[in-house]
Amino acid sequence: MSASVRFEPAGQLRGDYRPPADKSISHRAALFAAMCDEPVRIKGYLESADTRSTLDAVLTLGAGVEEEGDGHVLVRGVGLHAPLEATGGLIGVGNAGTLMRLLPGWLAGVPGGVWTLDGDESIRRRPVDRVAEPLRAMGAGVEAREGRYPPFTVSGASLTGIDYELPVPSAQVKSCVLIAGLLAAGSTTVRERSMSRDHTERLLRLARAPFERDGTSVTVAAVDELELDEIVVPGDPSSAAFLVAAAVLVPGSRIVVRDVGLNWTRTGFLRIAQRMGGVIVGDLEEPGTEGEREPVGELDVASGPLEATEVEPGEVPLAIDELTLVALLGACADGETVVRGAAELRLKESDRIAGVVEGLSALGADIEATEDGFAVRGDGSPLRGGTIDARGDHRMAMLGAVAGLASLEGVEVVGMDAAAVSYPGFEADVRALV
Ligand code: S3P
Repeated sequence: MSASVRFEPAGQLRGDYRPPADKSISHRAALFAAMCDEPVRIKGYLESADTRSTLDAVLTLGAGVEEEGDGHVLVRGVGLHAPLEATGGLIGVGNAGTLMRLLPGWLAGVPGGVWTLDGDESIRRRPVDRVAEPLRAMGAGVEAREGRYPPFTVSGASLTGIDYELPVPSAQVKSCVLIAGLLAAGSTTVRERSMSRDHTERLLRLARAPFERDGTSVTVAAVDELELDEIVVPGDPSSAAFLVAAAVLVPGSRIVVRDVGLNWTRTGFLRIAQRMGGVIVGDLEEPGTEGEREPVGELDVASGPLEATEVEPGEVPLAIDELTLVALLGACADGETVVRGAAELRLKESDRIAGVVEGLSALGADIEATEDGFAVRGDGSPLRGGTIDARGDHRMAMLGAVAGLASLEGVEVVGMDAAAVSYPGFEADVRALV
């Protein structure tokens, strides 16, 4: 059953707002904690369908998970090299692409285990060959449906380090290979053409793993154990982006976003929205990719008349989950907004190029798909409104909601329940600010 929810035009958004915990960092925190020998406390673990799948996965692998309330979770890990409690079996990943791509990096390096990862209908359409290829090159046994899709079976082996240039910009693939590198003989280098989110690198430093960065290349080496005692998860800038976009779009709005992660590799959307004319005050410019702790801060956001912009391929990984919001801003801005180098959007929880083009067109936008992105034209006036189908994709559901708040006639979102994958409290947070 998919719930339809109507979002009426908002007068204005006002108030203080704390976004939910970061989804990317929560997945990594649970996996890294499970790889430690000593207990690790995660402060502010995201409560959502996706991150629940990761806790369930580490439980299946033999870790202990104690939920202490207030988002604090204590994980009693099995250790990086420990023969995992069971020697294999099925791991359900639900809708979680990050779990599907990161966990194989660990499983691949523990000889003797044979694990099959599988999930929902959407995950079964998402490619895993991007991680199968480097893991196979390192010596693991891997098998995927049609060589490309889940179910995905990983047979652990003694791995050898590789020097790997990512064929697609992907923090998930980078993370998978780096994790496998912790279990591989020799060193493992991952080279990216342009920087993607660096949460895994920060955790590697925090865990005292042998680690070196040289520009956009990262090298790790084998390690006996990982040492972590506490991981603090900041608010998710990708979740906050929906309410930031609403505040930028709805005239007269002003919100303060507190305790939000301001890691430069995640704030690309905020920089794009700022140059389009959104009033966003916060620390968005400092790359700071050397630290171990995640930068956290505050944003002061207000509406502003929007101008079109061009988003170039190098910016795409820094705003990958927010590009549909750039389309919405573009539809309400003056001029033509173009996003290039974003073909990866077709491989997300849904085909987000098709989804955003069909979805926003139905609401009155002048938008078309291009080979690797989209182009959208506006004259600075709001969208009419109508109905949008989330297609089972959490971020498409929230996009529809924000479009409704900024529209003339409101938007009915079919399948709003999908938002619970990353942001169960989304509707309540919207209602509190409107
Ligand atoms: C993520 C990386 C991105 C992003 C996804 C989360 C991560 O995917 O779209 O929501 O946590 O590493 P890709 O690595 O496929 O670009």
